[in-house]
Amino acid sequence: MKRDLLTLDSLSEAEFLGLLRLGERLKRGEHPRYLEGQTLAMLFAKASTRTRVSFEVGTFQLGGHAINLAARDSQIGRGEPVSDTAQVLSRYVNGIMVRTYKQADVVALAENASVPVINGLTDLTHPCQILADLMTCGEEFGVDALENLTIAWVGDGNNMANSWINAARVLKFTLKIACPTGYEPDEGVLAAAHAEGADVHVTQNILDAVAGADVVTTDVWASMGQEDEALARQAAFEDFQVTTRVMERAQPGAIFLHCLPAHRGEEVAADVIDGPQSRVFDEAENRLHVQKAVMAWCMGGVPLTDAS
Ligand code: CP
Ligand code: NVA
Repeated sequence: MKRDLLTLDSLSEAEFLGLLRLGERLKRGEHPRYLEGQTLAMLFAKASTRTRVSFEVGTFQLGGHAINLAARDSQIGRGEPVSDTAQVLSRYVNGIMVRTYKQADVVALAENASVPVINGLTDLTHPCQILADLMTCGEEFGVDALENLTIAWVGDGNNMANSWINAARVLKFTLKIACPTGYEPDEGVLAAAHAEGADVHVTQNILDAVAGADVVTTDVWASMGQEDEALARQAAFEDFQVTTRVMERAQPGAIFLHCLPAHRGEEVAADVIDGPQSRVFDEAENRLHVQKAVMAWCMGGVPLTDAS
């Protein structure tokens, strides 16, 4: 059976930790040619800096080649069915990374492709980013200690928040989410996590969420596709900025994460994101290494338990 990465809750705990450990090994400078002669197609219906560059560089470092296909420059943007696109690309390439709006389109792409499909962000989820975030947490606290962490999510219950919930389901850490009423995470994602006993809490109180946290993390108030709501969201989220006062409520050794791009003075104060507790550039770098691990596993057939 081919291996896709569409959501994090599809991973077993061993696979999840195996990806983080393989990412750590690949970060140490090794470039095994796991993707020798392979091509990755990268489909983008939304903007990107990190995802685009980290997947392209990562493929190259593992001996493969990546092709960038922006929706607006391809037949995808003119309405060619996802199922046809999936079948055609499967005749040319060895893997597909896709960034788009609907999670259902990524699922349909995976169902109709005979090659692995990797989710590079949808409106619902952003699994590769949370893998990089947890790799960064592992560097700080140890991969074996991840299940003991308390992670505080502040702000919008968006694609990032949903993927944090999916990760909490698998790795069993405590996740405390603070968001304004009406901006909670996806109900289905939350219900599935709670049904499995995940230690995930939602509150409207930012200070309650960050109290004693080992990791404080946030994201933009208006995600891609929500530009028209930006003004209304600024009003709704004004009490949800991560400031030094907020960070003081967390553990003394707490770290701050943000997937970037960030808006200083909105979701995070400049002195936090540019301060000593911030790990945002390690986090961005780890996209490269953990995605190499994902591609090695999905496309290169590298067994995670042996490889790490
Ligand atoms: N964090 C992230 O996914 O960044 P890009 O939108 O630049 O790819
Ligand atoms: N929530 C943000 C993440 C960007 C990497 C968005 O979807 O735009």
